[in-house]
Amino acid sequence: MSEHLLSVKDLRTSFVTDNGEVHAVNGVSFNLDRGKVLGIVGESGSGKSVTAYSIMQILADNGRIAGGSVEYKGQDITKWSARQMAGFRGKCCSIIFQDPMTSLNPVFTIGNQLEEAILLHTNKNKAQAKERAIEMLTLVGVNEPAKRVKQYPYELSGGMRQRVMIAMALACEPDILIADEPTTALDVTIQAQILELMKELQQKLGMAIIMVTHDLGVIATMCDEIMVMYGGRVCERGTADDIFYNPRHEYTKGLLRSIPSTERMKERLVPIAGNPINLLNMPAGCAFCARCDRALKVCLDYVPMERQVGEDHRAACWLNDLALKDEAEKMIAAGQSAEAVQAATGWVKDENGQWVFDPVINEQEGGSGNEQ
Ligand SMILES: Nc1ncnc2c1ncn2[C@@H]1O[C@H](COP(=O)(O)OP(=O)(O)OP(=O)(O)O)[C@@H](O)[C@H]1O
Ligand code: SF4
Ligand SMILES: [Mg+2]
Repeated sequence: MSEHLLSVKDLRTSFVTDNGEVHAVNGVSFNLDRGKVLGIVGESGSGKSVTAYSIMQILADNGRIAGGSVEYKGQDITKWSARQMAGFRGKCCSIIFQDPMTSLNPVFTIGNQLEEAILLHTNKNKAQAKERAIEMLTLVGVNEPAKRVKQYPYELSGGMRQRVMIAMALACEPDILIADEPTTALDVTIQAQILELMKELQQKLGMAIIMVTHDLGVIATMCDEIMVMYGGRVCERGTADDIFYNPRHEYTKGLLRSIPSTERMKERLVPIAGNPINLLNMPAGCAFCARCDRALKVCLDYVPMERQVGEDHRAACWLNDLALKDEAEKMIAAGQSAEAVQAATGWVKDENGQWVFDPVINEQEGGSGNEQ
């Protein structure tokens, strides 16, 4: 099996608070290969940023990676020292934060900040770093770069600041770029320009991108794979076409009904009813259960397994298991054992020869089922 650039396995991250432990990420797994774009989408509080910060190990002081691993080129970086991680950040993996004003230092010029990042992560000297800073600003489409390097962040527009952030993140040519809501603070035209620019740079530099957003529509065209998160878990993953045209998780369906689309101009937008789950007190079963109008009894008690529902398409919803009855019949006809059929589909024949839905629950895994 070829090695992935980044392989996140059963990642669990929590925060200790006065009210108890907040379970922000609950068994997330995914792979990212060189030159690919992964979109992570989900409503506010679904654990998108915490997943990204866990990879970079830039969690708040009360946060910790409670389980799982993050492998970069085959090495588990959760075991790395602070010094090794400092080398990882910037050089191997960079992040663009949502709000450039909080990430750029207001008391230093753009040039100072860019040069510092370059000096820190490469072996360029001061003169070369200066040159590289201007080169990077040109690359991200900042006009008059020689003048801009002498300016302070407040002297630039929001779109310009975001471009500077991208230049900073790219200055060391990282293998992986994490963009955490890189355009939400910008107006629509600038948003489109920035995304176009990122796509262009990704193709030019061949890096992998993790694009974090709560707006599925914005990133769909640039992602090779989209991962939908809810309650710190992955509900569904697939290509943009899989997610948009054949969603197989009730939360994804709700998310799609709640976003505007030019094809459905006359349809009403339907917000997902109910409140996000309380991460202090995770439910025993499917995290979306309390808001799902198709929930079954099994959804209340057990976390659904992630199942293959298409070629590159996986979803964790008990309704998919329920739909596997035909598959179960085919497997039995092909001579597979009742145990294997029950494990793969959840369907088994009772003593009267009637099919009953009785999924095998992997209690040890907590049924989180994000195995790949
Ligand atoms: N330092 C912290 N202490 C306690 N809880 C935290 C801390 N940081 C994050 N959380 C909680 O972890 C959960 C996941 O947060 P996260 O920032 O990953 O959400 P998100 O999906 O990025 O949402 P948004 O779209 O609003 O950015 C939230 O409930 C958040 O309140
Ligand atoms: S597993 Fe059950 S509760 Fe969860 S989305 Fe599917 S049907 Fe709804
Ligand atoms: Mg976030």
